[in-house]
Amino acid sequence: MSLTEATPPAAPMRGAEQVEGLLEVLAERAARPLEEARALPGAFYTNEALYELEIEKIWRQSWIRVGRVEELAQPGDFIKRDIAGEPILITRGADGEIRALSRVCQHRFMDVLAECEGQKGNAETFACPYHKWTYGLDGKLQGAAHMNKSNLYQRTKDDIALPTFTTAVWQGFVFVNLDADPAPLSDLTDQIEPRLGNYDISEWRLADRIIWGEVEANWKIGMENGREAYHHIGTHLNSLEAMWPAHMVDFDEVASSDFFFARMFVSPEAAGGQEDGHHLQPLLLPGAPNLTAYERSFVTVAGLYPGFILVPGPDATLTITFLPTGPTSHYAELDILVHESALSDPELTEKVAEYREWLTSVNGEDAKAQADVQIALTTRTNVDGGPLSHLEVAVQTFQRYLAKKLVD
Ligand code: FES
Ligand SMILES: [Fe+2]
Repeated sequence: MSLTEATPPAAPMRGAEQVEGLLEVLAERAARPLEEARALPGAFYTNEALYELEIEKIWRQSWIRVGRVEELAQPGDFIKRDIAGEPILITRGADGEIRALSRVCQHRFMDVLAECEGQKGNAETFACPYHKWTYGLDGKLQGAAHMNKSNLYQRTKDDIALPTFTTAVWQGFVFVNLDADPAPLSDLTDQIEPRLGNYDISEWRLADRIIWGEVEANWKIGMENGREAYHHIGTHLNSLEAMWPAHMVDFDEVASSDFFFARMFVSPEAAGGQEDGHHLQPLLLPGAPNLTAYERSFVTVAGLYPGFILVPGPDATLTITFLPTGPTSHYAELDILVHESALSDPELTEKVAEYREWLTSVNGEDAKAQADVQIALTTRTNVDGGPLSHLEVAVQTFQRYLAKKLVD
């Protein structure tokens, strides 16, 4: 059967009645050998009921990166985050503990940071803007005005607190899991850490953040785009392809479907020299010490599903974070980290600014490509999914991840 024989759907597949059929397709495609691998049908990126299922089975049960420990260096430092619709507040307590708290006031449900415009700050307490119930950095209620005639309040006030979620820190990245009893983050990171060689990202510092904001594309379009370099020959023909040609990307074979790990080798033509037979990555920022010549010949791309891509390179470690905001949109932000030894470089600020400009331009190409795909998916023609290249092996790994989470 040809790929185009299937009958075009009469209407967009947005309803719950399609989900069972979509999951059957997912299970079948995820099980194929790479030589038979095929993209998922377009309805995977538009179906609203499937999106709700992903929120429940993936986003509310996975480790989600929310920031860096250096953003929570001092007691009172806090980060404001929304994870799949759940309003979260991450704090560093007076006791030094990092906690993830719900931002939903226990009185009548106001977001306690509703009037906090930024993404982070420092505070001793959090006063709900509605009726000023006040919570500590540990989430416990500290006081409330005009409640002296409520016997119920007087009896229960010591037990009133913002609900907490589980946190974990790996190599300086802070993660939150909304699940009540999650598997340890180390189940995932223990598989990735040995592959990083001499990279230890806890030695790196957040130098800049690009808050990209909303991308008008399903979160899976973002993650799939971030896990293949095949599109370097199209989307990034004039930006990345010369430096990291699509055909020079090497994927680790991984038994687990929870992550992918690839190395993008620099092309000989774009190299900034040679050492021990390796073409070296040219450096824009001060390079990290202790990397071998081999480790300076590529940029790593490691995807920790569902929404975090870690890209350690010899002079800059980049991270890309995706968070779903709806069936056809997601939030994206990109961090630029430099090795701690680079902090003394007197020109670091200018160099980071230059790197940011380059990265903004490249990510603009990606964001446009993702949004263009989503717009095209409003079609009612056949969009059953074409064959995948071997350069898209991690797209199929992602199918296996989705099948494990949604079907099994
Ligand atoms: S809703 Fe927060 S104090 Fe009333
Ligand atoms: Fe890209």
